[in-house]
Amino acid sequence: MSLKKLTKDVKTIAIVCNQWGDTGKGKFSDYFASEWADVIARGTGGNNAGHTVVVNGKERIFHLLPAGIVYDGAGKINILGNGMVIDLEALVKEIAQLKGDNMTCDNLMISEDAHVIMPYHVKRDLNVNASLKSGGIGSTGRGIGPTYADKIARRGIMIKDLFSEDVLFKKMKKAIDFYQDAPVSISDVIEELKPLAKQIKPHVRDTIKEMHGFLKQGKKVLLEGAQGLLLSIEYGTYPYVTSSDCSINGTAAGVGISAGAVDLTLGVVKFPYMTRVGGGPFPTELGGPDSERYCSEGLAHNLEFELKEYEIPYEEHNGKLVYDHHDKRIFELINCNLSFYKGIGVRLAGYEYGATTGRPRRTGWTDLVALKYAVNINGPNLILTKPDVFTGAREFKLGIEYEGLEEFTRDSQKLYKTKVNYKKFEGFDQNIAGIQQYYKLPDSLRDAIAYMEEFTGGNVRLISTGPEAKNTIVK
Ligand code: GDP
Ligand code: IMO
Ligand code: MG
Repeated sequence: MSLKKLTKDVKTIAIVCNQWGDTGKGKFSDYFASEWADVIARGTGGNNAGHTVVVNGKERIFHLLPAGIVYDGAGKINILGNGMVIDLEALVKEIAQLKGDNMTCDNLMISEDAHVIMPYHVKRDLNVNASLKSGGIGSTGRGIGPTYADKIARRGIMIKDLFSEDVLFKKMKKAIDFYQDAPVSISDVIEELKPLAKQIKPHVRDTIKEMHGFLKQGKKVLLEGAQGLLLSIEYGTYPYVTSSDCSINGTAAGVGISAGAVDLTLGVVKFPYMTRVGGGPFPTELGGPDSERYCSEGLAHNLEFELKEYEIPYEEHNGKLVYDHHDKRIFELINCNLSFYKGIGVRLAGYEYGATTGRPRRTGWTDLVALKYAVNINGPNLILTKPDVFTGAREFKLGIEYEGLEEFTRDSQKLYKTKVNYKKFEGFDQNIAGIQQYYKLPDSLRDAIAYMEEFTGGNVRLISTGPEAKNTIVK
């Protein structure tokens, strides 16, 4: 099928993740922004997200700005929606980086209703949620949870509050009673925020009204999801979740429209392996509790550590560690019989290190039981990413049954205890990086895709075979 056929009569597309985040939403936001959209909007989360795009060979990681900002110069409109939580310093830094690369943000709109991540939110998050060792859930430490908590408790600071010192003072006074553990001087915070607020002011709008106008004008609107369905506060593995609803429902609400107004929701799925960062159950994890413990050490087991530990040759280019992702030592790990080491091999082959925190991502086989659940919420249309990582693996598996459970459950304790049964597929040696035709994929991979569609009720629409937009198969 062609992209034209897929998007026929489609005015609104959403890219959401059907797993625990980091599935390649950024890549597909870029794909649809470059090929299709007029307006690109994010509706949930904040700078806990790390969305990677590779345009003309250059990698960029966005935390707050939608990936479509790359096409600002071509007149595309990018929106930070009402459902987001915004760290002003992080936003101003991201804008400055773009401008430093001679790119523009002229058509950027920031919702006046979005909530502001305040310094006391970050402190609270770092103190209470970030460390797995001290009983936290392994948050990104960006202040996300406390900011959303204040929003729900009706003591949050909104973007529109930033422009009246009087309002800001009164609202902060009310809020900081809840932050006795992180004493702040209101006037110091106001002074800190003032220059940042001034910089973003030209972009602040009633984006809900703008969005309704765009839909009326027939503009093509792309929603860029953040995080993933299994991290959703509503549908995820609570309490090991983020604090927004990152399903299609929350994503649409976060830009001021209803999920029913979205013509095509595409749920992104890593295949045949998946990842999770931070704490919480992961039934198909390679290495199980050993891997969770090892990854909970965070940066102590970062990319550099693993490259050295497993003697993978690498070089440093502009602060980035560059290595052959298909190095034979990596595939010795993937093809060994010990699942903990297999998991490390998959992490190295897939370059699975947090785009936001640099933490090692836990790795495991794609879980079809969880995916079937996600399809029930985000709908049947799927994008598969990263199968090219597996070239050279002797075999791969898909999780198909939780012993003792009939279907997926959000109950973390049950998920921790369940044993997963798998369906095994033969591996392949063919290099599929960059392939654009479905029939060119190896038989065993196509068999696995057909099996997955049958099992979950999903329909694969696009398959990614590399980090750049052009590395895409429209099925
Ligand atoms: P996001 O948070 O969903 O946008 O995903 P991340 O950017 O955190 O992580 C996805 C990573 O996979 C990024 O490094 C992408 O450049 C990369 N990526 C995306 N799709 C593919 C693919 O099909 N193959 C390969 N090898 N890498 C991909
Ligand atoms: P993108 O958009 C993967 C995880 C954190 C932690 C939990 C709560 O790049 O896919 P938070 O800081 O949100 O309170 O942390 O959620 N998490 C993500 N994991 N990708 C993300 O975003 C994530 N955003 C949050 O690791 O387990
Ligand atoms: Mg990410």
